[in-house]
Amino acid sequence: MFVVSSEGSKALAARVAQIIGAELVDVEKKVFPDGEIYVRALSSFSDEVVVIGNTYPNDSLIELLLLKDLASESADVITVIPYYGYARQDRRFLDGECIAAKAMASILEINSKRIITVDLHKDYIKQYFKVTVENLIPFKEIADVCRDADIVISPDAGSFYLAEGVAEELGVDAAHFDKKRISATEVVSTFDEDVRGKKVLLVDDIISTGTTIEKACSALKDAERIEVACVHGLFLKSLNFSPVHASDTIPSRFSDYTVSKLIADSLLKLKNL
Ligand code: R5P
Repeated sequence: MFVVSSEGSKALAARVAQIIGAELVDVEKKVFPDGEIYVRALSSFSDEVVVIGNTYPNDSLIELLLLKDLASESADVITVIPYYGYARQDRRFLDGECIAAKAMASILEINSKRIITVDLHKDYIKQYFKVTVENLIPFKEIADVCRDADIVISPDAGSFYLAEGVAEELGVDAAHFDKKRISATEVVSTFDEDVRGKKVLLVDDIISTGTTIEKACSALKDAERIEVACVHGLFLKSLNFSPVHASDTIPSRFSDYTVSKLIADSLLKLKNL
């Protein structure tokens, strides 16, 4: 097996390659004055290639498509998408909208024998692909960096799967905020349980601007302590809460746990089939 990755996923790819004992193929990448991207593999590959790359930012998606096309000329491709951007537009909320998660699937399945993702936001996005998708969720990895919690809470029902999974690893309770409609245009998230004296672990799949978590933290201000963990940390604004844990699907200064073993284990399972 060979591993090749887009620039933004290099560190994660190196970790995965090391665990599975695969050769990491170096890539030369250039961006032309008009923004077009050039990639060149600096050694050859054959048989089976694991191509790792995010769909965020948009340029990374192009890089991933170029690498997949290149790899598919001489090998079978397993595509690993640590952060599947565009997942939040997972269905049509308003007439006329493009279901971006579906559009991405139709592009990404090209030249892929199989796809591995990390926390897809909604598991049913898998159905948008014609190839098999394995969606890995780092419950244990999050629990391992946040061992000291009395309750795990998600800021909405949509990410309750994450709170439930992490809570199960920790052997504590899980709960979620409820969205309540105040008027035709206003929705507020509420949490009615008493958290006084409790150590809360607040989990979400994505932290983008941080607004969702910030609001949840304010509502939970009576807790003894609040710790925050996410899978994909975009961190587009400065944060008003800490401590924050994030995975290395999108490298940042908050990335303090890795999903490399999760991905490597899934690849090793395929190797042994
Ligand atoms: C929403 O469905 C996601 O699970 C996150 O809650 C959301 O993307 C977080 O965004 P932000 O950090 O901008 O509030």
